[in-house]
This record gives sequence, structure tokens and C-alpha cells, in this order.
Amino acid sequence: MKRDFITMFDLKKEEIHQIFELAKTLKNSQKKGVEHRILKYKTLAMVFEKPSLRTRVTFETGMTQLGGHAIYLAPSDIQLGKRETVPDAAKNLSRWVDIVMARVFAHKTVDDLAKNATIPVINGLSDLEHPCQIMADLFTIVEKKESLENITLAYIGDGNNVCNSFMAASNILGLRLKIATPAGYEPNKNYIAKAKYTALTNDPRAAVKDADIVYTDVWASMGQEKEAAQRKEVFAPFQVNAELMKHAKEDTLVMHCLPAHRGEEITDEVIDGPHSIVFDEAENRLHIQKAIMVWLSQQH
Ligand code: CP
Ligand code: NVA
Repeated sequence: MKRDFITMFDLKKEEIHQIFELAKTLKNSQKKGVEHRILKYKTLAMVFEKPSLRTRVTFETGMTQLGGHAIYLAPSDIQLGKRETVPDAAKNLSRWVDIVMARVFAHKTVDDLAKNATIPVINGLSDLEHPCQIMADLFTIVEKKESLENITLAYIGDGNNVCNSFMAASNILGLRLKIATPAGYEPNKNYIAKAKYTALTNDPRAAVKDADIVYTDVWASMGQEKEAAQRKEVFAPFQVNAELMKHAKEDTLVMHCLPAHRGEEITDEVIDGPHSIVFDEAENRLHIQKAIMVWLSQQH
């Protein structure tokens, strides 16, 4: 049966590690200039309802490096659910291309694409999850810390899609999570109900204490622009700045999925500081997504 990657819950622990191994091999090949055209003649359709730098460029570049081709479909092209239904779009795409990646507003849209497509569908961000980001982040942590065993990650800020995917990953992998959000901005309730290794707090200082990684993301996600001004006030005490980092360990690494709103959720001194690994994280989007596409193409 074809496999999709819509939520972190779609992968088992051993499958995540298989994908990490594949990403490591593909990254080495790319660095050494060794050809790895594993998806020769394959086509990826990239459906976007929202803007993107990293997701678009890494999927398209990744497909080129794998010997295939990627088609960018802008928000105005398909107009999922408006110009035609999501199931119809999925059934059409399945007749032409080999993989679909979609960045959507409602999670149901990417879920419906997957249910109606006969080819693998990848979630390139929805309002519920951002699983490709979290795979890149976990792969980066393994590179820096050698393993995910005994790692504590403090997530500071909004309980959003990125935070939900971390919670799912934490359940699967046993990663310890400490999440600090303002009251009322906690992650998804269903994810909280399932959480096994997550501690929730409203105190960012308590969260960063003893953490190996401090992670943050924007306070207003795409689609929440109207709430941005109000959120800036609510989230101000959750800024990842030098003062907050004083409460963390000396060697704590700093991560951010990017784009960063510098001066809001993170300050220049921290994102440009010696513990920041945000661009390694961004680079790894390329390697891990190549591995995800190859791995999904191998499942039947
Ligand atoms: N982190 C991330 O998904 O970036 P883009 O929104 O630029 O794709
Ligand atoms: N939470 C952010 C992530 C951007 C990559 C958003 O959804 O806009």
C-alpha cells in the first residue's frame, strides 16, 4: 500500500531512523558530488496555498538532485476546493505525477488529498502539523548530539503546528519536551491528551532550565496575520533573548524553523550567536526531504 507523510504519527520509530540513515547517505553524496539520481524521470507536484522559501526551494532542488522534476503550483493555480474539489485534484494529479507535496491552511485539505490520491502525499505544512520541518530538526539534533537519547528540548512560544509535530515526535521517539506557552496558546488538545514525555508550563525560564535545545517559532503563523499585534503583547515575556538564555545550560543549542521575526520571538544576539544552529537546520530540510521522497517511493 502506498504511504503518505501527513503527520509525524505516520512514521514508526524504526522508520524515522531508516529515513535518517538515508538522509545521511544522500547528504554525503551531495557534498562529495556523487550522482544519486534515484528518482530519475519522477515528477513531484508542489501545491502551495501559502508562501514559502525553504519548503519550496528544498523540495524543488531535492527533486532536481534526485534526477526528477518538480512542478510549483502557486496558490492561484489550483485553488483547492474552489476551482475544483480536493478529491478531484488528487485524482487528476495521481494520473500524471509520482508524488504530491502540499502546503495548506486546513489540515483536512492535505488529509483529503492523501485519501484520494493513489500516490504518496507529503504535508509541507498545515495548520495542525509541519512534519518535514520536525524531521529536519531531529536529524540536525542527531548530527549535533549524536543521538536523541536523553535529550530535552524546550519549545518556547506558540503551541502551533511546529509544536504539535514535536509533541507527536516526542511520543514516538521518547524525546523529552518542555513546552512554555502563554495561557490559552497551548498545543492541540488531542496531542496533549496523547503526550507521554511532555511537560507544559507558562514559565519560559522553567522550560529552558536543563534543556539541551531551546526552540522557538513565530508568534503569529501564516493565516494569523490579523492577530499579530495582539499576540506581540501576549508573547513578549516568551522572547528568546540573552536574558532567557542565562537560565539555560552553557552549551544549549538554539533552533528556529525560520522565517524568524527578529526582535519578536528571538533577538539578533541569540539567532546570530554561537549556539544557534538555525542554518544547519534549514540546510537539512533539503537532505531529509530527499530521503522522505526516496523512502516513500520505495513503499508499496
Ligand atoms: N520553515 C519553513 O517551512 O520555511 P518556509 O515557510 O519558508 O517554507
Ligand atoms: N508556524 C509557522 C511555521 C512557518 C514555517 C507558520 O505556520 O507560519
